Amino acid sequence: MNIPQHIAIIMDGNGRWAKAQGKPRNYGHLKGTENVRNIAIKADELGVRVLTLYAFSTENWKRPDEEVGYLMSLPAVFFKKFMAELMEKGVRIETIGNLDVIPEATRKVIEDARRQTAENKGLTLVFALNYGSRAEIVRAANLAAAQCDGQITEEDIERNLYTAGYPDIDLMIRTSLDYRLSNFLLWQLSYAELYFTDVYWPDFDAEQLEKAIEWFNNRERRFGGLV
Ligand code: FPP
Repeated sequence: MNIPQHIAIIMDGNGRWAKAQGKPRNYGHLKGTENVRNIAIKADELGVRVLTLYAFSTENWKRPDEEVGYLMSLPAVFFKKFMAELMEKGVRIETIGNLDVIPEATRKVIEDARRQTAENKGLTLVFALNYGSRAEIVRAANLAAAQCDGQITEEDIERNLYTAGYPDIDLMIRTSLDYRLSNFLLWQLSYAELYFTDVYWPDFDAEQLEKAIEWFNNRERRFGGLV
């Protein structure tokens, strides 16, 4: 089986999953957070190099304060529970997005995790936090303009994206059956295969990931050429 080098996931449906169980939305976010562990471990086992997860978008600040506060507490929950296992598996933690406005306590937890796992050689697990793709492209264009005298090239932009240095995204998965990119990695998904499933994120298990990769294997990727 051809394993995608870089998989990106929009982890949608925590709220709907919770509602279906008659539970509060935050319970869905907690279960969704625990599921990040399952999918990261499986992706690492399969030999995926990079897994990028949309954890908090620039638009998510519009949610009620109580929900935003809960979401901001989840990195601490996640690393407390799973750091030992992530270290054992050699998982490296990274982030993309603007962390400047993330509450300091949350930022510290994430920065500690990044430092602690910096030398690990297994899966790179990237959390997109306070991430928005248009803002990322504008930032990259501004950085490129400051670095270049003449015309800006695609390479100049690429080099200044948060994702610089990661392999191209081969497969993007969105759970919960919304057919949108929601301002996620618009540049980087140019040639990715897009997989949509009706499964809610907390139920998207290792078997579901394998199913998505099997689907990916049956796609014919032409990158604009003829095969
Ligand atoms: C979308 O579901 C999910 C989110 C906005 C949050 C996703 C975050 C996690 C799963 C936790 C990330 C973990 C760490 C460690 C940072 P939704 O609430 O929009 O679901 P709905 O569309 O059913 O309401």
